[in-house]
Formats: sequence, C-alpha cells, structure tokens
Amino acid sequence: MSITTLPRTPTLQSRLPQVGTTIFTVMSSLAQESGAVNLGQGYPDFPCDPVLPAFVTAAMAEGLNQYPPMTGVPLLRERVAQKIERLYGHRYDAGSEITITAGATQAILTVVLACVHAGDEVIVLEPCYDSYAPNIELAGGRVVRVPLTPGTFRPDFALIGAALSPRTRLVIINSPHNPSATAWTAAEMEQLAALLAPTDVLLLADEVYEHMVYDDAPHVSASSLPELAARSFVVSSFGKTFHVTGWKVGTVAAPASLMAEFRKVHQFNVFTVSTPMQHGLARYLADPQPYMDLPTFYQRKRDLFLDGLAQTRLKPLHTQGSYFQLVDYSAVSDLPEADFCQWLTREAGVAAIPLSAFYADGFEQKLARLCFAKADETLQMALQRLRAL
Ligand SMILES: Cc1ncc(COP(=O)(O)O)c(C=O)c1O
Repeated sequence: MSITTLPRTPTLQSRLPQVGTTIFTVMSSLAQESGAVNLGQGYPDFPCDPVLPAFVTAAMAEGLNQYPPMTGVPLLRERVAQKIERLYGHRYDAGSEITITAGATQAILTVVLACVHAGDEVIVLEPCYDSYAPNIELAGGRVVRVPLTPGTFRPDFALIGAALSPRTRLVIINSPHNPSATAWTAAEMEQLAALLAPTDVLLLADEVYEHMVYDDAPHVSASSLPELAARSFVVSSFGKTFHVTGWKVGTVAAPASLMAEFRKVHQFNVFTVSTPMQHGLARYLADPQPYMDLPTFYQRKRDLFLDGLAQTRLKPLHTQGSYFQLVDYSAVSDLPEADFCQWLTREAGVAAIPLSAFYADGFEQKLARLCFAKADETLQMALQRLRAL
C-alpha cells in the first residue's frame, strides 16, 4: 500500500521580514480606484523625445540584439565618461571606471553588495529612498540612520560625524534629493569631503536627478571633488534624465579598484543590460542639448505648479532640484500624513505620498510629496482640485 502525501511548499524564513507592500503601490491603486490625479507616482506621464526610441528601433533593425559586453556597450561608456568630464571636470576611464546597469536601483544594490560585509555599518540620511535600507540588510549590514534637519532637510555634519564609527563602511547620499527636493551645495559637499578624508569610508552618491537642479544652481556631483571622487560610486539614471523610467538603464562611475569589485557582483547578478537600449542611448548622447535643456524644462513645470499652489491652502517648501514638491498641509488638516494622503486621494481626487513613508519610524511633519513631472494639463487638473480644499 502506498502512502500518498500532498505536495508541501516548505516555509521560507524571510530575508526581509520588515518589507511589505510599499506606500507607492498602495497610493497608486487607491488613486486608480478613486479616479484621482496621480501626483504620487514619481515618473512622467508625458512621452520621451521620439528620436530616442527611433535610435533604439534602428539598433534592433541593424541586428544589435545579442549580449553586449558585461560592463556595457563601449560607445555608451565612452559618452558617459565624456559627459561627466565636461560637466563635472573629472575624467573616468570608460574601460575600467564606468559600468552600465539595469537602472539606478540595481546599481545601488550592487554597490552595497560589493562593499558591505556582515556587521558593517552604513549611514543613510533620512528621509531617504526606500531601497537603501533593505539593500543594506540583504548584505548583512547595519543601517545607521541620521536625520536631515527637519524643516530644511540640510545635512547635519555634527550628527553625521557622530554616527561614524570604526565599523562604518559606506555613507549613502542623494542629491538632488527624493523626497525633500533639496540639492547639496558645494560647501556641503566640501564639508562631507573633509569629514570622510581621515577615514576609509566609501561614498555612494545617488545622483539620479543630476539634471534637475533649478534657479541656475549647479549640480555638485561627488565626482567634481577629488577627495570624494577617490572614494565614491556615483550613480545616475537615464530613466530619469530622458523620461524613460521603464527602460531601467543607469550608470555607475567609480575608481578602477572599486569598480573591479562592483563588476564581480554585477557579472553574476545582471551580467548585461539590454543591447539596443544601450546603443540607442549612446547615439542620443552625442547631442548634449536634451539633458542641458532639462533644468529649464522642469523649472517651468515647477513654477507653473507653484503659481497654482499659491491659490491653495497648501504651503509649498522650496524645490531646489528633482521633480518633487513638498507641501505643508497643516492649514487644511491635522490628520497624520498617511491618513491625510488617503483622504486627499479619495476626497479631493489628488494622490500624494506621505513624507513619513521615507522614515523608518514614520516621523510626522504634516508634509506630503507631490510629483510635478506631469503634463501641464495633469498639473492644472490637480491644482483645480487642490484649490477646493
Ligand atoms: C533617489 C532615487 N534613487 C534611485 C531611483 C531609481 O532609479 P531607476 O529607475 O533608474 O532604478 C529613484 C527612482 O525613483 C530615486 O528616486
């Protein structure tokens, strides 16, 4: 007699027990259910320059469809190296110091996996992008959270200095900043350089919004300061720069010895990134105008949005960079941020993201994040609804 047992799926002990459905997914589905204008999601609702997909299509038609080199298509790496040198004055070697990644998200995880050993500490400045902490935890590292100054969101170097320990392996910064829309000044970057100079601490500079800095201010890349460039992985994203977030193509620049370790992890994780996309981007990068025009393009949207917000009871904070706008809603409601954003989505028909979602402890400041990377009509419709608050 044979004993039959039902097939059984073994229980898996979670590597990331804290991680659940993100607020972005929650708010986007709520926005859809309620027919709300979705200013929560951080990506454009307008098309990219048609020249860019035409270049990708041409590359496919030319038969550029097989695996590219593991580190990225050589012409794309060369164009990225030229662009960084022209804008920030630091020459990376395209062969050994630039790698093309599957978006900035993969670049960040790969940097963390390459650098962080079990028990190492990594300093993150809160509020911060949601992938940093789970990435550090996956590597077995310890997340050391240092708050940006509430209200202004400027880095507090006394706090960062106090958080440095012999176990600190990496500091992660993000400028222009999601979600606060601040951008680090040259003086702040120099202060960071001075703080890290006596240490062996590495820097991960998340610069995905590098081409979105406004009011004629420069983007101060970590690559522009020799002290920082020597210890930094600088990450950027073509998705953000060229309005193609779904393409998931990004870049990392780092000194050759650091990049060699990065590539060991990249090789056995992603290996290569879509060939025709890389060729299309390489051809498109021959003309600097599209990314040089980006600050003007987004500053106009920021100002259009700000003019409209002036006629609402929401109080905007200053947006120096990125395509986000924080608003203080304390004149409208005393609900906690997550409840306010749900109410705003359901009742006012505009989806926003609570700032508290970017803090591990859900720190509350009565602030919500709105995204102005939207068609003018989308922004106008949202503003019309916000005026009724
Ligand atoms: C600060 C920050 N870093 C990284 C990313 C991810 O970029 P990518 O889409 O290229 O993976 C985002 C996207 O929202 C971001 O806001």
